[in-house]
Amino acid sequence: ADVVESYSYEDIEAISKFLLERCRHRPKIGIICGSGLGGLADTLQEQEAFPYESIPKFPVSTVSGHKGRLVFGVLSGKAVVCMQGRFHMYEGYSMAKVTLPVRVMKLLGVETMLVTNAAGGVNQDYVPGDIMIIKDHINFPGLCGNNPLRGPNNEKFGPRFPAMNDAYNAKLRASLRAAAKLCGLSDHMKEGVYAYLGGPAYETVAELRFLKAIGVDAVGMSTAPEVIVARHCGMKVCGLSLISNKGIMEYDPSLVIDHSEVLEAGRVRAADIQSLVSNLVKLIDE
Ligand code: 6GU
Repeated sequence: ADVVESYSYEDIEAISKFLLERCRHRPKIGIICGSGLGGLADTLQEQEAFPYESIPKFPVSTVSGHKGRLVFGVLSGKAVVCMQGRFHMYEGYSMAKVTLPVRVMKLLGVETMLVTNAAGGVNQDYVPGDIMIIKDHINFPGLCGNNPLRGPNNEKFGPRFPAMNDAYNAKLRASLRAAAKLCGLSDHMKEGVYAYLGGPAYETVAELRFLKAIGVDAVGMSTAPEVIVARHCGMKVCGLSLISNKGIMEYDPSLVIDHSEVLEAGRVRAADIQSLVSNLVKLIDE
């Protein structure tokens, strides 16, 4: 049982202690910013930022469009901590590294986590620029055994066999809908199932048709590992997918998808997502 990389409780405690000793904020809300959505962290008041390379034992992020800092600050009058740039399995990080920041947040005192990402639309009703409240996920690598909780369980974080039927908190999803109404985004809101695939290759036409057939609404390369680890340690979770493009489900070689399109959708809706998140934070009672 020693083949899976993991961080000890003491490692994670040391990292959170390092941060708490250098930061005056005590956030109960954590936010993971997805591709093109890191601008949210720049809007925090009274910022205190920690580049990942300055935090002992922290992994360092590599993908373009991701800055790589933990940013503490105030949003809508509440203390929050943002991951500006996350770690993906496709970059070569272990599941332990991908999910380490979630456990660090837990020991910082975070009780509610909001996860954002950019995703491809599988549901044919979705158009680029739509914002999907994540109702549920399908963790494809996990179904085959590559679950972030694989390995010895630490009961200090949570149980060996945690439930996932209520992964995405129903009250928080209702608050997201209310927040969307407050900032005039209701017409762009969807709610659906997110499929996590390992990437980095995008899906084949057959794979996307398969995902559609089993009830997937959006597909991406993140989020599910962090959510599983957050639920394991008892955090309340909600998630948003910015639909950056439609998945290509036709055998038409003139149709293309590239990463710059994904980042562009983030730019177009970035301000909307920011006001959505700040309205959500307003509605969270601590
Ligand atoms: Cl079409 N697929 C995946 N896996 N991730 C994406 C995407 C598609 N569009 C944005 N991110």
